Amino acid sequence: MKFFIDTANLDQIREAQDLGILDGVTTNPSLMAKEGITGDDKVNKHYKDICDIVDANVSAEVISITYDEMIKEGEALAALNPKIVVKIPMIKDGVKAIKYLSSKGIRVNTTLIFSAGQALVAAKAGASYVSPFLGRLDDIGSEGLLLVEDIRTIFDNYGYECEILAASIRGPLHIIDCAKIGADVVTAPLSAILGLLNHPLTDKGLATFLADHKKAGESAKK
Ligand code: E4P
Repeated sequence: MKFFIDTANLDQIREAQDLGILDGVTTNPSLMAKEGITGDDKVNKHYKDICDIVDANVSAEVISITYDEMIKEGEALAALNPKIVVKIPMIKDGVKAIKYLSSKGIRVNTTLIFSAGQALVAAKAGASYVSPFLGRLDDIGSEGLLLVEDIRTIFDNYGYECEILAASIRGPLHIIDCAKIGADVVTAPLSAILGLLNHPLTDKGLATFLADHKKAGESAKK
């Protein structure tokens, strides 16, 4: 399973890249705003900065909602760096934009997927990725993981190469559950990725190993 980090924070992206297990970065307009990045020039520079940090693909989201504007914006984003994957929202004009951009060889990540039908249409239009938002479904009392399962079944039935990019991940358990289902990618905050590393028995076991090693060294000196 591929690991993407879901942030526009450069320090966190660097930390994930340094860990050596990063396959990509996803951003969205809210994440960019959280970092205080506004205006086309600053936003484009920020995407380039992210691309310089990672050996991985970087999802950059359009902020227009009409077909003509989305394809113009998508082409401009893709031209910033070959690592850019254009993020298009799942709306009617978005579907047409996915078809157009993918036919031009531009990879598309379809965002704001909340139903299996939306994922099916995005895959059919040629999207490279669909992003079901698990956490936001969980937030309204609907089970996000069931959506990932349904999309997995549909894509496997027809051999769609479109990758399932599980998004809106809230913690390490979401990542493990997505891996069990067979999501191709998870995009998660750094805290959720780092949460996978921890176990109290690992800490306890390591402390014992080090203490035993030290004791053995001290008695050897006597
Ligand atoms: C996906 O690409 C989105 O950026 C993201 O996962 C949104 O998640 P949220 O529900 O935590 O905002």
